[in-house]
Amino acid sequence: MSKPVAQAFDTAAERPAHLPFSVAFDARDEEALLAVWRDILRSNRWSDGDHTRAFEAAWTAQTGLEAVAFNNWAGGALAALDFVGVAGEKVLSPSNTFLATPRSAQTSGASIVFYDCNREDLCGSFDDFVATAERHRPKAAWIVHVGGHIAFDIERIAAYCREKGIWLIEDCAHAHGANWNGRAAGSFGDAGIYSFYPTKTISTGEGGMLVTANPDLARHACSYRDYGRGSGYRIEGMNHRIDEFTAAMGVIQTRRLADIVAWKQAYARDVLDPAYPNRVRLPEGMESGFYKYIVFDPVEGGAGKVYELPCHRIFKHSVDLANTDWVAENHWCVPIHYPRAMS
Ligand SMILES: Cc1ncc(COP(=O)(O)O)c(C=O)c1O
Repeated sequence: MSKPVAQAFDTAAERPAHLPFSVAFDARDEEALLAVWRDILRSNRWSDGDHTRAFEAAWTAQTGLEAVAFNNWAGGALAALDFVGVAGEKVLSPSNTFLATPRSAQTSGASIVFYDCNREDLCGSFDDFVATAERHRPKAAWIVHVGGHIAFDIERIAAYCREKGIWLIEDCAHAHGANWNGRAAGSFGDAGIYSFYPTKTISTGEGGMLVTANPDLARHACSYRDYGRGSGYRIEGMNHRIDEFTAAMGVIQTRRLADIVAWKQAYARDVLDPAYPNRVRLPEGMESGFYKYIVFDPVEGGAGKVYELPCHRIFKHSVDLANTDWVAENHWCVPIHYPRAMS
């Protein structure tokens, strides 16, 4: 057995000193990245080439699903919602999320209906999902894996959506490296979208990845990101292509993802867990990617909150989402930053 990453730490009896934030790019990958960028520079193939395919293949290996790369999460979200055809329809969204989630549905011409979360995992509540869906009969729904673990109610929500014919799209922006009994985020619903924004577990500066087991959805997404090319321009897409420099960085970053997640898991287990008993507790078989380490007590010098203001308040919807409001008031984040970053 290899030496656990955690042996590098002193087990914390006291609250640990926080590591400074920097974008998670491992200094050991710098030369490899510069070499591949030099090759691309001289290749005359700066978009839609082998590095895009390789980045997608890396996410197929990561999730077991077809993967389509985008210039950001938003492009992948719009492509999935366009495939479903949500214009003029209702789309459920949790309120405890970044406003990108409901905004993508709004921009796609849908009306948003917010549903509540659980206090334990900060993610969508099955009971409120069902109650809201029965009342509003949505065509599609978002579920968000908030903080880096998989939503605890995902299996029940996915089964309900299958039974009712509701398209379920997973916002995996936080969920790099997470799995539940070996199933990656994005594999429970009809599609999942990852983000590679600089705050994320791995970043390409900007970037996104749609994953799906549905080959028609994957084909639609490929065409959508390229103005509908390949569909006789029937698909009314825009430009959400990823460039080759970004895709090449994505390949290197994805190769490093297992190290980053292993480090975070060990740091959580050996350093943070003993110091923070009042925290999100993962169910059996769940591995978090620990995008965030979430506790239910204020943290001095901490990393603030995942979200300060729930989306139903930003969008001024007058719905009563008691758990969402409770979570906004009562959760905090302890910094958990990969220490091998460049700066
Ligand atoms: C939950 C969630 N969804 C979507 C996004 C949007 O991702 P992007 O900035 O890549 O469009 C983010 C953050 O950036 C996020 O945290």
